[in-house]
Amino acid sequence: MNDDQQIPVPDRIAEFPPHWQLADSVTKLLQIDTVDYGQHRFPDQESLFRVLDNVQGASIAMLADLHDPDPHFLQLVLLAETLHDMGAASVGLLAPYLPYMRQDKRFNPGEAISSRYFADALSPHFDWLMTVDPHLHRYHSLSDIYPIPNRILHATLPIATWLNESVTNAVLIGPDEESEQWVSEVAAFSGFPHETLIKQRHGDNDVEVSFPHPERWQGKTPVLLDDIISSGHTMMAAVSHLRRAGFPPPLCIAVHGVFAPDALAGLKLAGAGDVVTTNTIPGATGRIDISNLIADSLKRQI
Ligand code: R5P
Repeated sequence: MNDDQQIPVPDRIAEFPPHWQLADSVTKLLQIDTVDYGQHRFPDQESLFRVLDNVQGASIAMLADLHDPDPHFLQLVLLAETLHDMGAASVGLLAPYLPYMRQDKRFNPGEAISSRYFADALSPHFDWLMTVDPHLHRYHSLSDIYPIPNRILHATLPIATWLNESVTNAVLIGPDEESEQWVSEVAAFSGFPHETLIKQRHGDNDVEVSFPHPERWQGKTPVLLDDIISSGHTMMAAVSHLRRAGFPPPLCIAVHGVFAPDALAGLKLAGAGDVVTTNTIPGATGRIDISNLIADSLKRQI
């Protein structure tokens, strides 16, 4: 199956968790209702969902924040199954940030290929999947691991538009080869030049980068751009490298701001300027709004 497949236009949004900013604005833009549901926690911490609206025959998009997937996975599945059970015609998963995509090969003997197992665990519970810029590196498409209809949205145009409104004389810099796909597209949309650094990752918090031609870009505003900031160490290594090469504090942009607890503070300490992300994940850095991108896509049937 190819990506960008037929997905029903939803007539209800189930927000997971309820009332997060992106889900609220997508629902408003689509002018459809949310599904009202309650969640009871038993003393032993098991969950019981109760759907409070009539969803018989409804096409539902579950708009889910999955940036911290482990503690939320079971609840996501329990809610999806409750909606099916209450007669929904379809229940799709709209996860603006799709987790577990980076563990896409066995890097060390005995290691899990978690992206595949996560896809296997999620897919039976949903009729379709939509997401924004998933980390497709060794996989060519989501269909390599997700056997359900799926659609990928790209935040590169909203990011380029934001950049054109906010920065002049920029050079876009990808902190590693994997970021080339995002950096080159944002460069094409925004008209700014770009270059990609070379990264070596020795561990979760141990990253080294090198910059082939720093002299070419002196005098420009450096903008580091990646798909994900998680531990922040990729960006921190790139920021430190640029600062040592004499650049001013780089603006750091990512599609998905996952941010481990010390990531933002570490970036500032390394010498970063502003840190800005899209709002695929709730948080203060989410200043590039992608609600129109999502709402427009949900309105069209391919
Ligand atoms: C990997 O290649 C990704 O594109 C990001 O560079 C990476 O996931 C960022 O992770 P961290 O912030 O933990 O270095």
